[in-house]
This record gives sequence, structure tokens and C-alpha cells, in this order.
Amino acid sequence: METQIITTTPFDGQKPGTSGLRKKVKVFQQPHYLENFVQAIFDTQAALKGGILVVGGDGRYFNREAIQIILRMAAANGVRKILVGRGGIFSTPAVSCVIRKYKTQGGIVLSASHNPGGPDEDFGIKFNAANGGPAPESVTDAIYARTCTIDRYLTLDAPVIDLDKLGTLQLGETAVEVMDPVKDYADLMESLFDFNAIHQLFNSGHFSMRFDAMHAVTGPYAVEILENRLGAMPGTVMNGEAKEDFGGGHPDPNLAHAKELVALTQGVNGLDFGAASDGDGDRNMILGKNFFVTPSDSLAVLAANAHQTPGYASGIRGIARSMPTSQAANRVADFLGVECFETPTGWKFFGNLLDAGRITLCGEESFGTGSDHVREKDGLWAVLFWLNLLAVRQQSVAEIVTDHWRRFGRNFYTRHDYEGVDLAGAEGLMDHLRILLSELPGKTLGDQIVSYADDFAYTDPIDGSRSERQGIRIGFESGARIVYRLSGTGTAGATLRVYLEYFEPDPARHQQDTQAAMQPLVLIARELAQIETRTQRSEPDVIT
Ligand code: G1P
Ligand code: ZN
Repeated sequence: METQIITTTPFDGQKPGTSGLRKKVKVFQQPHYLENFVQAIFDTQAALKGGILVVGGDGRYFNREAIQIILRMAAANGVRKILVGRGGIFSTPAVSCVIRKYKTQGGIVLSASHNPGGPDEDFGIKFNAANGGPAPESVTDAIYARTCTIDRYLTLDAPVIDLDKLGTLQLGETAVEVMDPVKDYADLMESLFDFNAIHQLFNSGHFSMRFDAMHAVTGPYAVEILENRLGAMPGTVMNGEAKEDFGGGHPDPNLAHAKELVALTQGVNGLDFGAASDGDGDRNMILGKNFFVTPSDSLAVLAANAHQTPGYASGIRGIARSMPTSQAANRVADFLGVECFETPTGWKFFGNLLDAGRITLCGEESFGTGSDHVREKDGLWAVLFWLNLLAVRQQSVAEIVTDHWRRFGRNFYTRHDYEGVDLAGAEGLMDHLRILLSELPGKTLGDQIVSYADDFAYTDPIDGSRSERQGIRIGFESGARIVYRLSGTGTAGATLRVYLEYFEPDPARHQQDTQAAMQPLVLIARELAQIETRTQRSEPDVIT
């Protein structure tokens, strides 16, 4: 097998976003497009030469082709050993787990997360560092800079590798180990949670659940963990067969896209527990019978009860939440006497805090929850955490959450998204708010008095790096809050996200309907930002 040096030229627009390089499959299929990006990884990450690299993806369309290309290039670039999941499969948290367990120099994750898959849909690639987490900005900037000057890439003249057979084979000088993508991850889960207690719950005869894998990567993981190891009834995992196009669906675990599952939890005969994960297995949604747990509440509940699980029995060191995530977690941190960090949106901001041991749990309102067990958010981990709590507390999801509200008060929470709005209009709206900021404190808006207003900026407490303009925060004396930010992951025009939160200490008012309870705050938010005149929208497209 001979190394080939292929001449190439840079492409426009290979700048990775917050979650790596994400484009349509057709873009990735252009000759040299994927190769340029992959070579830029090898050209900038010196430790990979002679090192170990993990490779896998969520199984979407183009996953197998991309992996063959990456294996040949990795071998040509002197990687000593490659760990690749059977069938080219690894969930995002499983990649993180394997990088950490085998102390590799990094990993390449192929996924476009919750975006649809198929020949006309999305594909993505990102590099994870030796800590198992998404590469920090310094690394992604270096990779991008290299893609702008690249003139050659290295590959091997080698036959297609059989990815479906476990075992180690040789690709030039490089050992390629095709490994079970599930086992190490499942073992890690078993080390964190009380599998006996969950097993008993499943076999108690009075507990019903479904896990919706949405035809995405968590199917095989959920079958192994829930059905094989924990003894849940066969069929507990629904849509468990992973498909290249996710069965034509949108593999995003929320009330809009997991409708089938939501319906199963409703009514008097509704399931006791429903959960779902996304395309690459890092997001989660938690449902009880006729009950939806907001991701912000989920983080707070897990933090307050962590000591009831084996993996976190000695307590948690601290919590971090992304800025727009509700302040419910802060109340728990105060109670526990641990630090609570407010970070910009995006999982990468948790990495330093986790590595430094300052936090144990972290989460985002966008259905992301995780801990220091890996360096990615982790869908099935959150599901197992909930199951562990249900098993040891012998209470329903609704009882656990309402009990939590009674103890800590309830942070009513909702997010309103205005999608695909005119970019200039959306930026004008943010600029308009920025100008208002200094005059807001002390002012009365509706029935609320503003206590602070700012454009969120964050200084990483570990490395001192600074991130500015991360979203407008307006806090009120009552504890209510309005946050405005523009999405960093959208593709068409701009997406304005408005996050609304209001604190209710009185348990007699905890059962109100969220949207009704929020209405006064919604009106304040719309008027203050002049949403209708600036975006031409009178109502949001999506309400979560
Ligand atoms: C969205 C979520 C954010 C998450 C990101 C990647 O980003 O809001 O919490 O980290 O996807 O999964 P946004 O589109 O808001 O920039
Ligand atoms: Zn994802």
C-alpha cells in the first residue's frame, strides 16, 4: 500500500461552527472537500502522528464513505492506531468515553446532530481533543486556517476496509481496530448507576416506559443497556433500528418531533416514563405520565438528587448552566453550598470547568445534560439517571418534579423561537436592545422592575479567555428574566431566540399553565425588543 500525495486547493467556507463543520451531504461529496478538512486536522494536531485516533459517526447517509476516506488518510499521516466503531458507528458521548478510556490523542466525530440525514440533507465532522471534548476554539481556528492554505493531502492506495467485522487489521503501518461501539459506553453507565434497582423497577410489574431512538444512533445503545442489561421488555426501545435517513424524520427529541412518544405518555393509561435522544445521542427529552420535564428543571432535579445514585454518592462539586438555561439550578447549588457557573451557549464552555474539577453536572435548556463522566452532553446517561431516581425514590416523574418545586420554588420557563427571519432585521433588534441597556435598571416594565440589563460576557475562570456579546440579559427584581440571542447554528437567515423565566415560590401556583403564567412577561419581551416591527412576525414559529 503506497502513500499518495494528492494536489488540492482550498474551498471557501470551511469554517467550523460551534458544533464542527456542518454542511449538506452534496457539499461534502465534492472531490477533496472532506479530504481538505481532514488533512487540516492532521497538519495541525501533531500528537496524532504516532498516536491513537478514535473514528465514528451517527450512521447517517455518507457516514461509511467518509470513514473509509478518513481511515486511509489517517494511515498515510502516520497515526499508529485507529479505533473505529463497528459499522462506522459511535454515538457522540461514546466517542468521548472511548477517547478518555483508552487515553487516545483525539477523535473524529461524523454527525450533524439532530439535523435530518439523507442524500439531500446534512452531514458534519468535528475533532474532539484528548480530554474527550469538542476541540477548543484555538484548535478549531488552527484547523480552519490550515484549510485556507492547503495544497496537498496524504492518502493510502488501499482497498475498502470491512467495518462490519470486529477485530484488528492492518492498513499500511497502521493498526485499525474495529470495536464494539456500545460495550465501553454501556460499562461506564453501569459503573455510574444502580442497575439492580432499575432492573427491579422494570420487573416490578407496575412500571411502563418507552425509549424513542428516533431511528438514530442510540438504538443499539438503548437495546443493549435497557433491554439486555436492565431487563426491560423487548420493544421498550422504539424506532430502534438506526437508518441512514433516520426514517425520514427529524431526530430531535422535543415535543414537536417526538410526537409519537409524547402521545404514548398521555391519558390515564399513559406510560410512566418516556424518553428520547437525538441523531448522535447527546440530547435527551424526559417525560412522565402527562408530564414534560423542561431541560432546565431536569438539571436542577438531577443536581438535587445526585447523591442518591452510586456514581455521584459523594455529592457534586459544582454545577454549570448555559446562560439562557433557567436559574433553577442556582437554587440547588445555593442549597448544596457549591458553585454555580453561568456560561455562554455551547457545550465547549463546560470543558475547562469539568477538567479542573470545579463542576460535576452541567446542562443547557436545549435538551443537553451531562457530567464529568465524559466531555459531551449525554442523552442515555440522563435517561438512566432519571430511571435510577425513579427506582430509588419509588415516586413518579411528576411527583419528583413537583416535590422539587415545593422545596426550591418553581422557575416557570419557556423559549420562543422566531426562525428564518431577515438577518438585518434581527441584528437591528439586538443593536436596538444594546442601546437601551444602560437606561433600563430601575425602570418599570409592565408589572416588573428591572434590576440589571447587560450583553452577557464571560471570562473563563480557568484559562481567562473572554467571550463577549453572548446575548442580552434583562433581570427583574422578582427573579424573572428575559434573554435574547441569535442562534449560532441556523442556516437560513437568522433565528431569534427569546428565553423567558419567572420565579414562583408559592406551591399553590405551581400548577398553572406555563404559557398563561408567562403571558405578561411575553408582552414585555415583545414590546421592549419591537419584535413585530423588526422581524415582521407577530408570533414565534416554535414555542418550547
Ligand atoms: C443550539 C442550542 C445550544 C446548543 C447548540 C448545539 O444552538 O441552543 O444550546 O449548544 O444548539 O447543540 P443555537 O442555535 O441556539 O446557537
Ligand atoms: Zn446531538
